[in-house]
Amino acid sequence: MSVRIITLDGPSGAGKGTAGIGLAKKLNYYYLDSGALYRLLALAAQRHKVDLDNQSAVTTLAAHFDIDFKNTAIGAMQVLLEGEDVTREIRMEHVASAASRVAMHAGVRSALVDRQRLFAKSPGLVADGRDMGTVIFPDAELKIYLTASSEVRASRRHKQLLEKGENVSLHAVRIQVDERDERDRSRKSSPLRPAASAIQIDTSAMSAEEVLNKLLEIAVIRGLFH
Ligand code: C5P
Repeated sequence: MSVRIITLDGPSGAGKGTAGIGLAKKLNYYYLDSGALYRLLALAAQRHKVDLDNQSAVTTLAAHFDIDFKNTAIGAMQVLLEGEDVTREIRMEHVASAASRVAMHAGVRSALVDRQRLFAKSPGLVADGRDMGTVIFPDAELKIYLTASSEVRASRRHKQLLEKGENVSLHAVRIQVDERDERDRSRKSSPLRPAASAIQIDTSAMSAEEVLNKLLEIAVIRGLFH
């Protein structure tokens, strides 16, 4: 049976995660949170005292680090680094910033290609990230690019961080998110940009539910419901 792939790219806070998980559940597809891979790599580098800007050392780590994704009983994803549950830790904003630094290295990106493609299993996959439609799954059946204004994205991230117990100001989050997005957009290797055939949706004025409904509508039109 063929594997159907939906790519979901865009900057942080555009609504990819919530919509992607919701869409995967509705379609009964697998879900790839590719950002978690870069976050895990950044955390591994920090723990092993590897300089984030040292391309060759971080690339070696990317080729060998021991990670695992487990589906827990409640349906949430548990993320393990060297056997330790780091699900909460990788969500911290300082880990996200470090992730965007290791993600700049071309060697790191190619070392992670196969790990990402292994998630493509029948009946299908929703792949969330920055280069899913452009580099990792260029032949995907449906490519979506979500975006939103910088203010809205920062305020969504701020809310998520407060919910996770990280006590930061909206102003600080906005600066961090803007810096991270600028790095993601301007890097030479696989920069953040919409794939040529991607459907672009501005989610600034949409609720999470509205974004999911819009994606489901598109999936129906494309015949992705069985
Ligand atoms: O999606 P998330 O915010 O968890 O991603 C964290 C960082 O990982 C991004 O800011 C980006 O630098 C990097 N990333 C990437 N390519 C992807 C997914 C994430 O470069 N496909």
